[in-house]
Amino acid sequence: MADQRIAVLASGRGTNLQSLLDRTSDGSIPGKVVLVVSDVQGANALERAEKSDVETRFLDYAVFSRKSDYEQALLEVLEEKQPDLICLAGYMRILGSAIVKRFEGRIMNIHPSLLPAFPGLEAQRQALEYGVKVTGCTVHFVDAGMDTGPIILQRSCPVLDEDTPETLAARILEIEHRLYPLAVRLFFENKLESRGRRVYIKEDGI
Ligand code: GRF
Repeated sequence: MADQRIAVLASGRGTNLQSLLDRTSDGSIPGKVVLVVSDVQGANALERAEKSDVETRFLDYAVFSRKSDYEQALLEVLEEKQPDLICLAGYMRILGSAIVKRFEGRIMNIHPSLLPAFPGLEAQRQALEYGVKVTGCTVHFVDAGMDTGPIILQRSCPVLDEDTPETLAARILEIEHRLYPLAVRLFFENKLESRGRRVYIKEDGI
C-alpha cells in the first residue's frame, strides 16, 4: 500500500500540499508524494516539496504557444512518474481534457466552499457577499468543468458577523488540512465507491 504514488499540482503557498506531505511522512496516508508540479516559478509549494526531498517541476505556461501544448507537456511530466493519484492543491488552472481523461477518477481537488455554491475564484469572498451563515470546504474528483466533479467529502464551518475574506479563509483552511488527507487515505484504502455523481464512503464515522 505504502508505495501508492501521489503527484501534486500547486500554484501558490502550498499549505494543502504540506498537509499531504506531513500525513504521508507520518504514515496516516499509505502513499508518498513523488512529484510536485507548479505553473508558478518560485512558488512556495515548490520550496515545501524540496524541503521534503520531493522532485519538483516548474512548467512555464508562457513558453507554450497553445494551451494544448502546455497540457501535453504537463501530461508527459505526469506520465513519467506514473502517479496513482493526482491532487490539485491550489492549482490555478483548469486541467485540460486530455489529462482529465487519461487519469479519470484519479484526480482530486480541494475547494474552499460547500460546492456547488461558490465555484471558481475567491470562494470565501463570494460566500461573504452572498451572506451565507455556513460555508466550508469540499474535496471532489476532477472532471472537465470548473469545480463540478463528484463530491467526495465536505465539512462546514460558521460564517461570523465580523468575518473578512481573510478570517473566513483561515477558518476554512484549518478544515481543509484535515479533510484533504482524509480523502486521499480513503481513496488509497479503496473506501471510495463512485456511482455516477455519488461517491459512497465505505468507512463508519466519516
Ligand atoms: C485553498 O484554499 C484551496 O481550497 C484552494 O486554493 C487554496 C490553496 O491554498 N483550491 P494552499 O496553496 O494549499 O495554501
